[in-house]
Amino acid sequence: MAAPDAVDGVEGGSSETGLILSESNTGDTKRPQFGTRFLTDPRQVFQHNAWDNVEWTDEQEAAAKKKVLENSQPLPPEKREEYDSRANQFWNEFYTIHENRFFKDRHWLFTEFPELAPQCSLNHEAHPAVCGTDGSQRDQKQCGEFAALSLDDGDFPGSSAKYRILEVGCGVGNTVFPILKTNNDPGLFVYCCDFSSTAVELVKTNPEYDPGRCFAFVHDLSDVEANYPVPDGSLDVIVLIFVLSALHPNKMQDSISRTARLLKPGGVMLLRDYGRYDMAQLRFKKGRCLSENFYVRGDGTRVYFFTQDELHELFTEAGLEKVQSLVDRRLQVNRGKQLTMYRVWIQCKYRKAPVQPPETQG
Ligand SMILES: C[S@@+](CC[C@H](N)C(=O)[O-])C[C@H]1O[C@@H](n2cnc3c(N)ncnc32)[C@H](O)[C@@H]1O
Repeated sequence: MAAPDAVDGVEGGSSETGLILSESNTGDTKRPQFGTRFLTDPRQVFQHNAWDNVEWTDEQEAAAKKKVLENSQPLPPEKREEYDSRANQFWNEFYTIHENRFFKDRHWLFTEFPELAPQCSLNHEAHPAVCGTDGSQRDQKQCGEFAALSLDDGDFPGSSAKYRILEVGCGVGNTVFPILKTNNDPGLFVYCCDFSSTAVELVKTNPEYDPGRCFAFVHDLSDVEANYPVPDGSLDVIVLIFVLSALHPNKMQDSISRTARLLKPGGVMLLRDYGRYDMAQLRFKKGRCLSENFYVRGDGTRVYFFTQDELHELFTEAGLEKVQSLVDRRLQVNRGKQLTMYRVWIQCKYRKAPVQPPETQG
């Protein structure tokens, strides 16, 4: 099988993030941060590997639009149908070939999405079932054991946890394992699912997989009739990293509306995905287009390129409200080959409205 276009697009690969690891004056590598290096003098473009918040000129935008139009003749309906009905098989083949070597751990998660980091605000006293009533909080190990008890409770995995995160389209765990490693909050329980059974198997056989803190399962995000192993209104955070773009655009709204039901009031959905005119979109040749801004790669996996407005519509239609939406425009540079690559990613957070406290009676 030919190398997937995904490798060209480096969308999830090692250079996907284009992260800048800043050095502290003690020589320690600090947490990666987006948006800290700006190209002010174009003559210096090859001095670094990446530049942040790059402005696009009108000409550049027009050229991108033209390129997309040139390659927008869609494949015949039977081919489009085949890529849709066999979508999980193509991803299974992808993971059979690459196993856990393709995507890199997403360590930027905690700076971009602090909701995934240990919760400073954890109020143990309000939740004695998790963390004790005697004022002297149980140690983290004990609390972790309490969170895991739910597995035997006959409820649902992690039902006694205080803070629940679900990653949909988790692949081989490049988001989930960094969360488990970084966030030792004893009340945390992490769920992760993917419709590739090969990927989920790789998560479960990873030595870092701890069934006391995590539950991985096979689930198709676009199958809105299928049950999740958690009840509606039970999740604090849902993470969607480069997964919504893999769905047929016609299925996106129902999928988002279905998963939004799982959020608690005040819970958030966190997304990072491809933006319109990202380099990966402009690289598609004729014969790869499925519908407007939706393409199939050489390995049969599919990808859509979003605008902020489209995502806003999807999330608000699902009853969520905007907390953040930004376009991350980054210029990546191959200094050896003197190549420039314009990347466009969208990052957003949408929240389910918190329950309003009842009005104080007079
Ligand atoms: C580009 S990969 C990203 C993987 C992971 N989120 C990461 O960032 O490393 C997209 C993932 O979404 C999964 N996926 C695609 N369509 C899906 C669907 N309908 N339901 C669940 N998972 C899906 C694929 O199997 C694949 O693991």
